[in-house]
Amino acid sequence: MSEKTSKSTSGAPVSVPAKGIQPGKPFHDLAKWATKAPEGEHLISTAFGDKVKEDLKFVHNEPGVHKPDPILVADNVTRRFGGMTAVNVKHFEIERHGITALIGPNGAGKTTFFNLMTGFDAPNTGAWRFDGKDLAHVHPEQVARMGMVRTFQLTKVMSRLTVLDNMLLGAPVQPGEGLFRALVPGLWKKQEKANVEKAEALLERFLLIKKKDDFAGSLSGGQRKLLEMARALMSDPQLVMLDEPMAGVNPALKQSLLDHILSLREEGTTVLFVEHDINMVRHIADWVTVMAEGKIVAEGQPKSVMNDPAVIDAYLGAHANIDLGDDSVMDLKESEEH
Ligand SMILES: Nc1ncnc2c1ncn2[C@@H]1O[C@H](COP(=O)(O)OP(=O)(O)OP(=O)(O)O)[C@@H](O)[C@H]1O
Ligand SMILES: [Mg+2]
Repeated sequence: MSEKTSKSTSGAPVSVPAKGIQPGKPFHDLAKWATKAPEGEHLISTAFGDKVKEDLKFVHNEPGVHKPDPILVADNVTRRFGGMTAVNVKHFEIERHGITALIGPNGAGKTTFFNLMTGFDAPNTGAWRFDGKDLAHVHPEQVARMGMVRTFQLTKVMSRLTVLDNMLLGAPVQPGEGLFRALVPGLWKKQEKANVEKAEALLERFLLIKKKDDFAGSLSGGQRKLLEMARALMSDPQLVMLDEPMAGVNPALKQSLLDHILSLREEGTTVLFVEHDINMVRHIADWVTVMAEGKIVAEGQPKSVMNDPAVIDAYLGAHANIDLGDDSVMDLKESEEH
C-alpha cells in the first residue's frame, strides 16, 4: 500500500516523507498501513489501542466531556414517546478508534439512542455529526454507506435466506451500480465474487462457515447474533454500533467474540457497544459511558466509572453495596440466569 499511495496521480510534484507517511494524511492512516505490514505486525499491531488509551488518559471523567478525536458528536438529542423522554443527551462524543461501552439499566434509552444515531428513528430535537458530516434526516442505508453500521438487540436476520445470502445483503452498494453495470456482466460478476469471498472469510472468523448454505432461520439465537455482527462488517464500516452483542451467546464463544471486537479496533474500526455484561465491559472497553433515564450520567475510564457512586446508584439501585468491578456480581447474575 505504501508504494501505491506514494505515487502522484495528478503528476504534480509531491514530497513523500519516509516510512510511507503522506502529507496531509492523518496519523491513523499510517497506523493502518503499519498493522498491515507483515514485518511490522507484531511490533505495532496495537497501534490504535495504544493511541486511544494514550489520548483518553487526559480526558476528564465527566458526562459530555470533549475528546481529542471524536468520530461521532451528538448535541441536544431528545426523543419523547408520549409524555416520557426516552433520550435526552446534551452532548456526547465517541473517540475515533476506541472501544466505547454504553451501559445503563433497562429502559435507559440506549437502543433508542442507537436508533436515532443510525437513522432508524427520528429525534424531537438535536443534531449529530459523523466524521464531520451532519446526519439529521439521513436514511439508515445512507448512514451505512457513509460508514456507520449497527446491529440490533433483537436480531434482524432474514430467516428465509441462507446465511451466505444474509451476508451478501451487508455488502456495500457500489456507487454507480445500476443499468450500466448490470449490462456489463464482467463488472458485477467480479464484484460478486469478491463479496462472496469476503463473506466466507467473515463466516469462517465467526465460526459460521459450516452453516453458510443453511437458512438463517435455522440458526440459534447466539448464532444469529454472530451472523449480524459478521454482516455488519461486510461494508468495512468506520464505526460499528453493537446492541448487546453478547446476549444469548454461549460463554465458550464469548471469548472469541471479545477477540473479534479487539481485532476490529486494531483494523482501525471504532466500536460502540451496549452491554449488560460488566465483565465484558471491563475487559475490552477503552471508555465507558453510562446512561440512565435518557441522560448521560457518567463517563470515563472503565475502572473509575465502575466505582462511581452515581453509576452504582443508577445501575444497581437497591443493590448499591455491590461493587460493579467485582467478578462475584457476574457469578451471581449467571447463577440467577440458569
Ligand atoms: N417505539 C416506542 N414507543 C414507546 N416507547 C418506547 C419505544 N421505544 C422505546 N420506548 C421506551 O423508551 C425507553 C427507552 O427504551 P430503550 O429500548 O431505548 O432502552 P434500553 O436502554 O435499550 O433498555 P434495555 O437495556 O432493556 O435494552 C423505555 O421506557 C421504552 O419503553
Ligand atoms: Mg436496548
